[in-house]
Formats: sequence, C-alpha cells, structure tokens
Amino acid sequence: MSFYRPPRIAASEITPEHCFFNRRSFLAAAAGGALAAAGTPALAEALKASKSQYTVDEALTPEKDVTSYNNFYEFGMGKGDPLANSEKFKPTPWTVKVDGLVGKPKEFGLEELLAMPLEERTYRMRCVEAWSMVIPWSGFPLAALLDKVEPLGDAKYVAFETVVRPEEMPGQSGYFQPLPWPYVEGLRLDEARHPLAILAVGVYGKTLPNQNGAPLRLVVPWKYGFKGIKSIVRITLTDKQPPATWNLSAPSEYGFYANVNPEVDHPRWSQASENRIGEGGFFGANRRPTLPFNGYGEEVAGLYAGMDLRANY
Ligand code: MTE
Repeated sequence: MSFYRPPRIAASEITPEHCFFNRRSFLAAAAGGALAAAGTPALAEALKASKSQYTVDEALTPEKDVTSYNNFYEFGMGKGDPLANSEKFKPTPWTVKVDGLVGKPKEFGLEELLAMPLEERTYRMRCVEAWSMVIPWSGFPLAALLDKVEPLGDAKYVAFETVVRPEEMPGQSGYFQPLPWPYVEGLRLDEARHPLAILAVGVYGKTLPNQNGAPLRLVVPWKYGFKGIKSIVRITLTDKQPPATWNLSAPSEYGFYANVNPEVDHPRWSQASENRIGEGGFFGANRRPTLPFNGYGEEVAGLYAGMDLRANY
C-alpha cells in the first residue's frame, strides 16, 4: 500500500503574503467583469507567484493543441467543434451549487471560487481514446471546496453536473443529440478529497477558454479524461454511487472508476500505449507506453487497495 507524500516546498517557493492578498483581490475584481478579457492578465500575474511542485518532467503540449483539440460534446463531436462552436457561450456570471449530504450547503459565485488560493499544476492527461497531453492547469484542490460545505458522515460519493444551455451550446440543440444532458460524473469521496484532484479555472496561465470547460472543470489526472467534467454548475454529496454519462451510455466500454490502466483494453482498442499530441502520428513509433494510473500510482494506488482493478475499470 502506498501513502500520499506531500511534496517538499522550499522556502523560496512560498508565496509572499502580500502577493497572496493582491492575488485574491485581483481575481475577485477580474471575475466581476468579462472573465475572458479582464481575467486573463490578472490570472497570469497571479500565477507567477504560485507555481506548484506538482509537475512532470515531460515537454508541455503546445497551447494551441490544448485549446483546439478538444472533447466537449455540448459543442459538437469533432475535435475542432468546441473551439469553433463555443463563441456564444457565456462563462460569466456563473454560480456552482454545492449541496446534498453536507452541513452547510451553498451556492458559490465565480468571484468566490477565483479567490481560492490558486496553484499552477502541470499534469499528464490521458484520454480513453488513447491520446495524451501534458497541461499546465491553474486551480485549487477540490477538497478545499468540499471543506467549506462540511460533508456529513454518511456522504460517500461526489456527483458533478455540467450546465445545460441549448441556446449557447449547439451540441445540445441539434437534430442529433449524441449524449443525454446534462453531462454528469462522479467520484468516491476519498478520491475527491485526494490532493491531486483539482478544480481548474485556468490553463497556460490564462482563464479557461470555453472549449476547455470555462469557467470551472474537474481535473483528476490518474483517470481517463472523460472523468474531467467541464463547465460545472452543481456538486452534490451523496451516499450512492452517482451516474456518470459515458458509463451510462456504454457500461461495457467506460467504467465508473476509469483509472488509467494499460492492462485493461477498451473493447475496441488497446490501452497499452498512447499518442502524445504534438509528437507525431497516431500509429507511428512515437507512441509511448501508457503508465498505470497515468504515472500517479505512487500517490493514488492506496485508494484502491484490495480492489480488483481489472474488474473495476
Ligand atoms: N465534459 C463535458 N461536459 N462534456 C464532454 O463532452 N468530454 C470529456 C471531458 N469532459 C466532456 C467533458 C472528455 S471525453 C475528455 S477527454 C476531456 O473532457 C477533454 O478535455 P479537453 O478538451 O480540455 O482536453
């Protein structure tokens, strides 16, 4: 069994107090205006002082790929659709309701979420379709938000829900609807509280673009990318395993846990290797081996001690 070890933080890494408070007022002010315009320089400025030690020793995927090769079916099924079709989407104003089995249910305004202590974290992302990226997210631990609502003792899972706005999301209003809406996802409470699980509000030092899940999306780097639900409006603590969109749509292809596992193939393709976007063709020698738990096994394997990982995919 392996336990989570917090990374060492050198004194030089600690954000000076004045930056910390400036950062909070910067972000709160930015959120009040047009997020995309006003928030961008403020977030970049804020993150200069908040680079985290969570990083990987691999080249970053170019920003243009991170923001133009996307899965966000609310805007269409093609990889370029989320960028092409999300112009009308309005990520401000925004609220996230956090409710269910909690002592203090609350509707959080975006201003309050942007005022959480933010960190930049570079994580690998492995899509279930066998491509991957290395992405510098900006965000805060999901556990920090859960702490604010005080989960009750019988809460065992966390359910997430994406916004439904057919008037702004063409994939929700077209003739063909690829998925039932809202897109929903879930985690076990101990997974949700794991320090690696974050809510991202930015990428590449800028506020999240619409196609990446503005203004707030989940990032759980040891799981397949579809667990990273975008544009979240509701988070509910519950005692039952919550529904998850892809798991409901094709349970034999997409598990609830969806931990990255090179030994359990998707029924229609191998999960043993992956194509790192930006590094060449899908089938070439450039494919890299996929790592158990996407390389985060040392930190998270203990969450699944005693579980049959081949059956609980
Ligand atoms: N969230 C919503 N609401 N709708 C989606 O279609 N796609 C998922 C996930 N979150 C999806 C979503 C999938 S399949 C992946 S791989 C990631 O988002 C992609 O994130 P990215 O576009 O930022 O790389």
